[in-house]
This record gives sequence, C-alpha cells and structure tokens, in this order.
Amino acid sequence: MQLSEIKSAPLKSWIQQWADLCTPDQVVICDGSKAEYDFCCNLLVRAGTFIKLDKKPNSYACRTDASDVARVEERTYICSKAKDDAGPTNNWCDPAEMREKLTGLFKGCMSGRTMYVIPFSMGPVESPIAKYGFEISDSPYVVVNMHIMTRVSDTIVAKVEAGAEFVKCVHSVGYPLAANQPDIPWPCAPIEKKHITHFPDTREIISFGSGYGGNALLGKKCFALRIASVQARDEGWLAEHMLILKLTSPKGEVKFVAAAFPSACGKTNLAMMEPSLPGWKVETIGDDIAWMKFGKDGRLYAINPENGFFGVAPGTSMKSNPNAMRTVNQGNSIFSNCALTMDGDVFWEDMDTVPELCIDWQRRPWKKGSAVKAAHPNARFTSPAAQCPVVAPEWESPAGVPISAFLFGGRRAGVVPLVNEATSWEHGVFMGATMSSEMTAAAIGGAGQLRFDPFAMLPFCGYNMGDYFAHWLKVGANAPDKSKLPKIFYVNWFRKNDAGKWLWPGYGENSRVLKWIFERCSGEGKAVETAIGNLPMPDALDLNGLKVTDEDKSLLLSVDKAGWLAAVPQVKAHLDKFGSHLPQALADQLAALETRLQK
Ligand code: OXD
Ligand code: MN
Repeated sequence: MQLSEIKSAPLKSWIQQWADLCTPDQVVICDGSKAEYDFCCNLLVRAGTFIKLDKKPNSYACRTDASDVARVEERTYICSKAKDDAGPTNNWCDPAEMREKLTGLFKGCMSGRTMYVIPFSMGPVESPIAKYGFEISDSPYVVVNMHIMTRVSDTIVAKVEAGAEFVKCVHSVGYPLAANQPDIPWPCAPIEKKHITHFPDTREIISFGSGYGGNALLGKKCFALRIASVQARDEGWLAEHMLILKLTSPKGEVKFVAAAFPSACGKTNLAMMEPSLPGWKVETIGDDIAWMKFGKDGRLYAINPENGFFGVAPGTSMKSNPNAMRTVNQGNSIFSNCALTMDGDVFWEDMDTVPELCIDWQRRPWKKGSAVKAAHPNARFTSPAAQCPVVAPEWESPAGVPISAFLFGGRRAGVVPLVNEATSWEHGVFMGATMSSEMTAAAIGGAGQLRFDPFAMLPFCGYNMGDYFAHWLKVGANAPDKSKLPKIFYVNWFRKNDAGKWLWPGYGENSRVLKWIFERCSGEGKAVETAIGNLPMPDALDLNGLKVTDEDKSLLLSVDKAGWLAAVPQVKAHLDKFGSHLPQALADQLAALETRLQK
C-alpha cells in the first residue's frame, strides 16, 4: 500500500507531516505479511545487526549498542497539560516545550533511511477491548519485533478509514545518514538526546534516540500501559501490568487469575508454570499486560493486548520456566543481547547447558567459568505467544476471560506472609497501592528500606498515581455487581529465614498457593481472619509431598505484628507523597491496619 492510497485524511496528513519533518528516503506502509518480516530480517542480517541462528529455525541473534540496553526511565516523560496530572512519580514536561524540543531532534533524523508506518492492533483485531495504533519508525528491528509483539495488519488502515480511533506513535533511532555515509549495526543517539515522551491528552507517543525494547516497541509499555491507563481512567476500565493465567482444577473447573508483580519478579514464570500439584493445570493468556472491562454478566473480562513475549532471557531455564524454553526453541524468535554459541545458537546465564566457549553480547570471546556475564542481564527473547505449548485455547478470545482473582506481590525477605487475602475491595486496593520490595544493601537507601511499586505500575502509569488509586476504588464502587468483583490476594514467594535461606521453593510449588486461592474463590478454602487479612488455616494449604518444617510453615503463614508495625511509618511516608490526590479511603485503610496491629 502507498501513502497516496490511504483515504483517511487525519491518518494521511499525520504521516505526511512526519515524513516532511524527518525527510526519509522513502515511506513504506507495512502490511504485517511474512514476506515483509523476512525482508526486514534479511536487511538486518546484511546490516550486521542480526545473525541468523543455525540451531533455531527462523531465528536471529541481535547485539545492540552497549549504551542502548534497557528502558530509560530518567528520559521518559509524561507531557500532560498540567504538571499535577503527571503526579509525583513521573517526569513531567510542558507539552508545547517538549514538542518544540522534539521538532528540533526529529528534523531530518531519518535522512538516508526508510520510514516504516506500522499499523497494529493491541488485542485481537475484532475484540471490543482492543485498541489500534500506528507506529512510524525508521528501524527495521522495530518492524520485526512489532510483528511478533502486536497484530500488525493493513486491515487497521481500513478500520481507521471507517472511523476507528488510533494512538499515534512516532519513533526514530536518531541517527540520520548523510549521503554515502555507511550505517552501523545498532544506530542510536547518545543518552542526553534520548526522549521517550507521552502526550496523554492527545493520545500520542513520540520516542527519539533508542532502538531497544520498551523505548522503541511503542505498543508495549508506552501505549498498552502509559497511554492506555489514561484511556482506561477516562472510559472506566483497567489497563494493568499483569499476567493472566487460566487455572484448571482436577475436577475440570476453571478460573482465571491476573497478577501484578514488579518487573523481574517472575511474571512470565508464573504465567507458564508447571504445577507440582497433581491434576492441576496452568495455561497462559498473557505474561505482562492485561486490559479489563466489565462484561454484560457483571464480571470483569481481561484480554492480553500483546501477541508475543518480550521476556528476560537470563534466568530462564528448563528449571525456572520450561514452557518459555519450549516456546523459544520452536524458533521464529529474536534474541537481543544474548551470547552466541560457536555452533550458531544462543546462550544466557542459568541456561541448562553451559558452552565451553561462546561470543558474549558485546562480541567478545567468553569462556565457561568466566566472571563476566555472557548475556546482558536485560537480554531478551521476542517470541510468538501462539507457539507457547501451554497457551490457553481462549488466549485470543475477543470477549476476553472472566477474572476471579487478582494477585499482588513483591520481593519481601521478611514480614510479609506467603499469601494473604484482602477483606474487601478497598483493602485490596490498599494492598496494591502499598506493594513493595526490600532494597538490597547495594542500592541507595540500603538494606531494610522498602521500595514501593504500587500495582507494579510505578514506571508505567500515565497520570497522577493518586488519581490512579482513586480510579481503582471507583471501579470497585461502580461495579455492576459487587459480588462478582475479583477477590484480591497479596503473595510473597521470596520469604527468607534469619539465616538467609529461602522458606518457599517457588516455581511449580506456587500451585499450592494458587489452589488455596482457587478454593477461596469458590467459597471453599478455609481462612483465619488476622490483623492484616485472611490467611490460610494451617491445614488449608496443600503441602502434601513438600518438605517444609513446622517452623518454616509458621513463619510463612503467621503475622509478624512487630514487623508490620515497624513498616507503618514507611508506608505512611509513601502514601503521603500523593498529597491531596491520595484517596481518603487509603489513609483510612492504613489507620485501621495500625489499630488492628496494636490490639
Ligand atoms: C518489562 C518490564 O519489560 O516490566 O516487561 O520492565
Ligand atoms: Mn513488564
């Protein structure tokens, strides 16, 4: 399709305006076809960006510039009209000021390059929960990753021509080429020029200078979380940093669970888990993002707006996540910043077999036992969700799946029990708003200090987080049928004893906790009411066949009142950051918790 064939005037003039500013050599409207995917991969191989793997079908290794390896939160901005609407947890910039700066940066930035226009859907194209976007990008790496991570199709052009809304996404690596200037394998701009900007009021994303992950694949964090959270606030639904899984009991009963954990806390592992409990089954709907709306029956329905996994590779192994390994081993995947083995495969830390020799992510020789890491800690695999062996048959259901339970959690070595059920929606929102992990001694702030990551949305909420808490409360208060709201639980797989030993084996054994949650949702599982919420009765958690001492079990399932009380001032200071935007209901929850703990 040519630009001249686009009939929607707003779409056409938006593309034309950016083409005029960026001055690419040509404009290509993408169609999402396999031929387009293969063409871009070949281009990337010829440019030295991709290496075709011998050991995995249709798969490529990609090494980025050493300076362009992760999301850049300090260069990420919410450019809402009012600073107050970005809130205390976001970088804010006046929209007019940022547009002026971006105009300077984008002027001529695509010289010598192709401008790709990528029409995509977040969610199955016909889902009433899905939303459409267009990403303009000068990076073929972005084109191929978007092919896997979203549904790229020129049918979106027709949808927009028929009046559908779309989110405008613009991306450049920020490395124009002068006439006859040779390209480099990973073009990008220096850190001070990188800008990942969001204009929530006009539903626009403009990203300059980085080619990597969440900075460049704009459907993911920028659209599906930052812009979508604003759309969700305005339209009365939820856009969340949550995995979605399908849990089937030995009797064949099914419940769907959505879970929010901060980045790198095992969302992908839980979403694809192999339960250790006989007869239980976990299947995957999504591993990172959930969009949820109430259905006609009053239940909350979720879709996974993504089409693939952009998973952290190091740490992924047959032990931690066999289904992720099986997914990537089928091929059709892109491996960014992993190490390359001598026989044409990829390698990363914790993988089951360690090669004697490989090429590390920075193209240097690496030997088994070396002190440096072979793969970058944020090395990623991009793989189609459809080839996950445990993807649920309904993962693309346009209506979504009805959610029975929300799980929140962080990494807490102390104090926080294995699982704790909220006593009400407000209490659950309080749990989400106060989600925290301990900082290690290495981080500024030091050991024992808590790092709060409310709803795992700290870097991803596109508006004032105090208003976001209020939105969650409103969703509960306005629910068509409150008895059908998901139950809320707080889990902690990361408890340790005083000697620093893990108290809980995690991974597939987490199915024991899922079983209790399932039973609570069916009105069965037994619980004790405590000062912090409902905990499993000592015999209600199925520990059959698991070696846990009575002492460890009581640490995992008891209330450390002194520990909770000691954390209250930190929780209060965290909530106080939101000032007048903090809903009174959450301040009341904290006061009530303190009173219950003092009894
Ligand atoms: C991710 C993240 O990449 O949460 O999913 O950082
Ligand atoms: Mn994530």
